[in-house]
Amino acid sequence: MKHGVGLKPGGEPNRGGELKHSVARAPGKINLTLAVGDLAADGYHPLATTFMALDLYEEVEARAGSGVLLEYVPGPVATTGLETGESNLAVKAVRLLAEATGHPADAHLRILKRVPIAGGMGGGSADAAATLVACDALWGTHLTREDLCALAAKLGSDVPFAILGGAAVGTGRGDELTSTLTEGRFEWVLRLSDEGMSTPATYRALDEHRERFATDLGATPEPEVDEEVLHALRGGDVRALADLLVNDLQAPAMRLRPDLAEALEFGETNGALSGIVSGSGPTVAFLAEDAPSADALAATLTAAGHRVVRASGPAPGTRLL
Ligand code: C5P
Repeated sequence: MKHGVGLKPGGEPNRGGELKHSVARAPGKINLTLAVGDLAADGYHPLATTFMALDLYEEVEARAGSGVLLEYVPGPVATTGLETGESNLAVKAVRLLAEATGHPADAHLRILKRVPIAGGMGGGSADAAATLVACDALWGTHLTREDLCALAAKLGSDVPFAILGGAAVGTGRGDELTSTLTEGRFEWVLRLSDEGMSTPATYRALDEHRERFATDLGATPEPEVDEEVLHALRGGDVRALADLLVNDLQAPAMRLRPDLAEALEFGETNGALSGIVSGSGPTVAFLAEDAPSADALAATLTAAGHRVVRASGPAPGTRLL
């Protein structure tokens, strides 16, 4: 278990019921399946996806103080260049919770990142989820999990799943969630990229491809999750799951970033059961048979000059430390 690095767990409430500080952690995720429908009038694509939370946790400490401040603490992920102002999703989370509860928007945030940035693994979403939960405890506003999830959905499509964790099917924008049962652990090797990708750009590349080849492709099917995926998760059947990994954003992500295809091929010929571009990319997630084969694959990828992180799932959702 990798937690508690850098940030101390939250304290006891003072007499007013408010804490001096609180710490929450939230998991990153990968999409085991991601079916994308056609662009809708609201500017979003209807999705059907299967999420799995991974044991790479973002940690957010919220301290009492006036106004909203955010700083990143040094950790395994470089944070130079990240916005810490109003455009940061964690800052937006503080503002949204304040607006919803009537509590003044006072919180000083310190964030320890472990999820790759702009990698399609929901790191920014996890920051927002942990911020909601940490500030809710700090302020003593005690929202229900349902209310927190409703606020989370307003912040971004992947934020509700970061709160829920485990494994789940997401529909709508990916924010309408149904938890799914799983058995055992699934071992992953994540191949990171030095350069992030923009989620809207990957979706746009998919739209352009669909427009250009409309006559060949025909109508886009209604997005759905194959029942077989849920069977494989319930049965802890890693080999079956490996054959079912699918992502409609993978082809457009690879067109934007041809190095992803090479990385995928390399991992699959060097011990991965199967690999997939995570979400809108560019992280490539390799599923391995078990922990020793995942460790061996990680070593092979590293020796070939790739930057990798080991992870396993499913991991629990956002919780206070
Ligand atoms: O919801 P989120 O802020 O993560 O989405 C970022 C962008 O990704 C959206 O503005 C949209 O361009 C694109 N997107 C989409 N369909 C989705 C989710 C995201 O087109 N279901």
